Amino acid sequence: MATAIINNQTLELKDGEQLNCIQAAQRIGYEIPSYCWHPALSVVASCRMCLVEVGDTKPDGTVVMQPKLVPGCQTPVKEGTVVIADSEKVKAAQKATLEYLLLNHPLDCPTCDQAGECFLQDYSYKYGRGYSRLQEPKNIKPDKDHIGENITLFTDRCIMCTRCVRFTREVSGTSELQVVSRGSAETIDTFPGIPCDNKLAGNVVDLCPVGALCSKDFLYQQRVWWLKTTKSVCAGCSTGCSVDVDQNEDQVYRLTPRSNPLAQGDFMCDEGRFGWKYIHSDERLTFPARRKNGEIRTRDWDDVIPSLQKALAKAVGRAPEKCAAVFSPWMTVEEAYMLASYLRGLSPKVKLALGPVKTVGEDDTYPKDFFGKPKEPVKFTIRAEKAPNRRGVQMVLNHFGGAATTLSDLAADGAAGKLEAIYLVGGDPTGWLESQQATGLGKASLVIVQDILPSTISERADFLLTGGSFAERDGSFVNYKGLAQQIGRSVRGPDGTRPDGRILWDLTGRKGLFNAAAVRKEMAEKIPAFAAFAQGTLGDCGVLLNEHGAPEAHVVAKA
Ligand code: SF4
Ligand code: SF4
Ligand code: FES
Repeated sequence: MATAIINNQTLELKDGEQLNCIQAAQRIGYEIPSYCWHPALSVVASCRMCLVEVGDTKPDGTVVMQPKLVPGCQTPVKEGTVVIADSEKVKAAQKATLEYLLLNHPLDCPTCDQAGECFLQDYSYKYGRGYSRLQEPKNIKPDKDHIGENITLFTDRCIMCTRCVRFTREVSGTSELQVVSRGSAETIDTFPGIPCDNKLAGNVVDLCPVGALCSKDFLYQQRVWWLKTTKSVCAGCSTGCSVDVDQNEDQVYRLTPRSNPLAQGDFMCDEGRFGWKYIHSDERLTFPARRKNGEIRTRDWDDVIPSLQKALAKAVGRAPEKCAAVFSPWMTVEEAYMLASYLRGLSPKVKLALGPVKTVGEDDTYPKDFFGKPKEPVKFTIRAEKAPNRRGVQMVLNHFGGAATTLSDLAADGAAGKLEAIYLVGGDPTGWLESQQATGLGKASLVIVQDILPSTISERADFLLTGGSFAERDGSFVNYKGLAQQIGRSVRGPDGTRPDGRILWDLTGRKGLFNAAAVRKEMAEKIPAFAAFAQGTLGDCGVLLNEHGAPEAHVVAKA
């Protein structure tokens, strides 16, 4: 085990661990400011914000410091390394660097989208001089509002850290961004006619440490200090990117990637970043319904849930083998567990099936080469499986050993008059039911639909349960490789909707308020594959489930 000294504190490094001075200082809780360095990008050491004093411990125990300050981002910490990051010399360098970076900066914080989460603001406050000695007029460069479909560039706020350029070269591989010109005239730009529109392009906005690259979607929508952040998971595909959902007054404003080495790493794709708008769709199903002969009898949850309990018990009592439920790969594992255990409690003969798992094309890996061909090593994958929790729901169904059936078979049963009751869970905002299937299923004596948007069967439902989007629910998703992560309720859904967990908690007759952690603990006791849920919480990064042999997509759980 190697030992280094950071600001007079001893730091022990694990065997084989490679840290630079910034990371080593983080370990002892000290911040070395940095702009151009990012753990997922190559090191260029160009901004000079991280300059520190560095030395080596010689065999006789003496310490020899290097005569000049060195970039901490580029300097490895090893046995005997001594780093001084809080000396007057270092502080003077930080002041000088910031003064230089701010020379031509417009200081337009009041109208800048980044204000409140800007490293130029924060570092100026913590490490800067507090005034500028520049007498001459500032060098004003024109803004470029067409860097990409979703990205705009406020050129004069740029500090030329080149994080954005390196991202398009090293991660997306698409290389749309470059540095043009030199000296105080240098700017970030695209090649003529080739905007930065790759599928990962939005990440350059997050990477930009200042307010130069901005998201057109978020621009001037909110001051960031009004936003409340909830840790969650993108529901766009089975990669299951960890995200932060930012909202104010029940309106989601943006999704940004949350770094998670167990999940996707540091980034997310634009499909997920901008694909949440359906949450606030005017089309959302609001208010539940109990219908008789097609007529709405009530829209009151206090009537709908007890009536549904009675109707389900009656149908299962009549012909349990003709009752079935279709589980959506958009359900959380807690929801799937509650519904499956409830129905199997009514009768072990009730059939359980996995609903359609949409796949689009093939897994899309990055970086790409100039011709769009994937390159190794893969740094990011947008998965073809466009559902967040196929694997988790399948694991739950495997435990309950549901009779092998499919949505199509159930539709055929319905068309042949062999279906007594069908409980359908939707949730896929891009649609999940073909009209022919809806016609067959609609012939069941009792049709229950739990969904967020209208489908070809929602009007036919005897019971319509208006659930929540992923941003309105607590629970967990299991991604393609078995990583279980919690999703968090960040907004309340429209009036009349309820988070699905709450609907199922009430339907299954549990007392009090829906508690996802309590369901997880129960699952840990009852299902070996979910033993890792024992604590009730999965932490910020989630837990890898020790589950083997979950069948691949489209395979329905067998008895
Ligand atoms: S636009 Fe932002 S990320 Fe790109 S070089 Fe300028 S400051 Fe850095
Ligand atoms: S890769 Fe998948 S999970 Fe990640 S942001 Fe994109 S759609 Fe969402
Ligand atoms: S962060 Fe080290 S030089 Fe930029």
